[in-house]
Amino acid sequence: MQKEDLDFFRKWLLDYVSQFSSPDSFIQDNINLKFGHTERVCENILLLAKTEKMKDKGCRLAETIALFHDLGRFEQFMKYKTFKDSESENHALLGVKILKKTGVLSRLSLKENDIILKAVEYHNLIEIPGCAGSKELLFYSKLIRDADKLDILKLICEDYKEEEKCRNRALDFNLPETPGCSESIVKDVLNGRMAKMGDVRNQNDVKLLRLSWIFDINFPATFTILKKHKYLDTIISSMKEAEEVHIIEEYIESCLNAAAINSSNRLNRP
Ligand SMILES: [Fe+2]
Repeated sequence: MQKEDLDFFRKWLLDYVSQFSSPDSFIQDNINLKFGHTERVCENILLLAKTEKMKDKGCRLAETIALFHDLGRFEQFMKYKTFKDSESENHALLGVKILKKTGVLSRLSLKENDIILKAVEYHNLIEIPGCAGSKELLFYSKLIRDADKLDILKLICEDYKEEEKCRNRALDFNLPETPGCSESIVKDVLNGRMAKMGDVRNQNDVKLLRLSWIFDINFPATFTILKKHKYLDTIISSMKEAEEVHIIEEYIESCLNAAAINSSNRLNRP
């Protein structure tokens, strides 16, 4: 993959997204939100790729995955007015469908096509499938998952700091701000597992779901960035008073400390 290919993809995406321009500010703001997200995920993936000492060709492939990882979001929002996959469709699979239909990747090798399509498909799964394929695919899939999570955490933390009336309700899926948390989500977090979107019932649950992402971080540099920007602290302090919050806060802190002591990039239960 050459530099010209990446330039072509960047331009292609700009043209693609411009089709979704809308006079409706609710739609336009959310299209802009996802385009901005894509740009920052590209920056994040490059940062991680460089920390992993990847060569230029690998960095370009990583950036292409980041460019297209949320391609399905634009059509999803236009069609369903939500980013919630369960109320619309799986945006990763939709992205893969669009990539195939448009043939935008046809200038790349079969191997590169395969890595991009699968890494896009896997980016929002609860975990990368065991039979994911080559070591290379596994590596790129991990890169996009970390790069993506970093930006979503940044976005939501900025949103939590906004005044109530300025907040973007699409980010918390318009869920109610009821007290407490769902038992299954608390159980997942306290067992060091990623929580499931299907169990989310209120805003506290969304926050716990996002906190549970730390159990699926793959690169030490991702932890460094999380820590630097205090994303986890911001989420915890934004949660409505609930008995479980303190237990979870202590648990997450102990996991992070254990990870720092072991110098391990993946979290283990303490
Ligand atoms: Fe996504």
